[in-house]
Amino acid sequence: MNTSEITRIDKKHVWHPFTPLQGVPVPPIVTHGKGLSLFTADGREIMDLVSSWWVNIHGHANQELADALYKQATTLEHVIFAGFTHEPAVDLTQKVLSLMPKSHQRVFYTDNGSTAIEVGLKGALQYWVNKGENKKKIVAIEGAYHGDTFGAMSVGGRNGFNDAFSSLLFDVDFIPFPSQKAEWEALRKLETYFETGEIAAFIYEPLVQGASGMRMYSEEWLEKALQLAKKYQVLCFADEVFTGFGRTGRPMASDYMQTKPDIVALSKAITGGMMPMGATSFDAEVVKAFEISDPSKMLMHGHSYTANPLTCAVAVKSFGMFMADACQEKVELITGLHQKFVKKIANHKQVAEARSRGTIMAIELKTDKETSYFNSIRDKIYQYFLSRNMLMRPLGNVFYLVPPYVIEAAQLEKVYKEIEAFLDTLE
Ligand SMILES: Cc1ncc(COP(=O)(O)O)c(C=O)c1O
Repeated sequence: MNTSEITRIDKKHVWHPFTPLQGVPVPPIVTHGKGLSLFTADGREIMDLVSSWWVNIHGHANQELADALYKQATTLEHVIFAGFTHEPAVDLTQKVLSLMPKSHQRVFYTDNGSTAIEVGLKGALQYWVNKGENKKKIVAIEGAYHGDTFGAMSVGGRNGFNDAFSSLLFDVDFIPFPSQKAEWEALRKLETYFETGEIAAFIYEPLVQGASGMRMYSEEWLEKALQLAKKYQVLCFADEVFTGFGRTGRPMASDYMQTKPDIVALSKAITGGMMPMGATSFDAEVVKAFEISDPSKMLMHGHSYTANPLTCAVAVKSFGMFMADACQEKVELITGLHQKFVKKIANHKQVAEARSRGTIMAIELKTDKETSYFNSIRDKIYQYFLSRNMLMRPLGNVFYLVPPYVIEAAQLEKVYKEIEAFLDTLE
C-alpha cells in the first residue's frame, strides 16, 4: 500500500483509541522502530518518550525479544490453557512470583491491564463469597484509572472517561486523593468505610496515579492505609499495571512499603511491548478459598488467549533483561537525572509543580483553567514536541516523560533542554 492509501483507509475505517473521529491531525504512519526511535513514512525519526503508553521498557524492535518470540512461534504458538499447561507459563509464573510479596502463590494471565484488574476484582469478591462472608464493596481512590472494561471503570474515578456509562457502573466508595493536605482526611474516610465491615478490597495505584496526571503521594500514607486495611480484614489490591517493572525506581512500587498487597495486577511493561499481556498475582490466603474441587467455587474467569505461549516466552525474556544489572543501573541513572531536572525547573514561572518518582517525571503547567485531562493546552504541548520529533502525550496540562530504559543520558539532557525552551515560549 502506498502512504496516501494507508491514510485514506485509516481516516475512513480505523477507529483509534481515545481519539475523536473528527478534527484531529492525520496521524503519522510509523514504518518501523528501533530502540528509542520511531521512524515514519515521511522520513522522520521520533523519540518515544512515553514508551508507547508506558509499555516498551526495552525500546522498539528489540532483537532479543524478537528472537524469543520467533523461537516460541516455531515451537508452540497457542494452546488452550484449561486442562493443559506449558513451560513458558510455568517459567514466567516463577519469575513473576519472585517480584511479588513472599506470601503470593498463584498468577492468573489475561491480555491487558483492564482484564488484569477484572480478574483481581473478581478474585477478591469471590474470595469472600467462597468464605461465606458478606463483603461486597470496593474502596478506591478518587481520580484513579484502572482501565476501560466495566469493572475497571467502576473502580476508576468518575469523570469524562466514563460519563457515558455512569448509570451502569457498580457502586464504589471513593476516598479523597491523599495529596499532602488531604492525607489525614483520606485516612479518616478510609477507616469509616472499613468500619462498616462491608468492604471486600481496597484498590490503589501505588504511589503514582498515572492517567489522572502522574499524581504522586507518599509511601508513609500508603503504609498507614494498608495497615488499616489489614486491621479491618480488607484485601489490598495494588494496581501495578503502570508502576510495575521499575517505573517508580524499584521493581514494584509495592516494594517501598512494609505492608504488602494481597493482590497485584501487572501488564504494560511485562512483555516490553512485544506482546499484549495481563497478569494478576494472588496471596496464598486468597488462593486457599479457591482450593476446593467443587466447580461452583472456582474462579469464574478465562480468556481464549490466557497464558498464550508466545506472550509468556517474550515476558520471560523481558523479565531477564529487566533484572540484568545494565537495566537496573539505567533505571537508577534516569531516576537521578529526573530528580536533578525537577529541582532545576521547579521554580519556573510557568510550572505549577514539577515532580518525579523513579523513571517518571511530570510537569504540571500553570494555566487559567483547572488541572484536567481535558485542559486544551494539551494539544499545544503535544504538537510542540512532536514537531521537534519528540513524542510526549500530555494528560491535559500535565506533560511527562516515561522513557524506555534504553535512553541514554545525552538523549535525556537534550529532551530536558527542549522542555526548558518550551517553558520559555509560554512566557
Ligand atoms: C494503572 C493502570 N491500570 C490499568 C490500566 C489499563 O490497562 P490497559 O490499557 O492495558 O487495559 C492502565 C492503563 O493505562 C493503568 O495505567
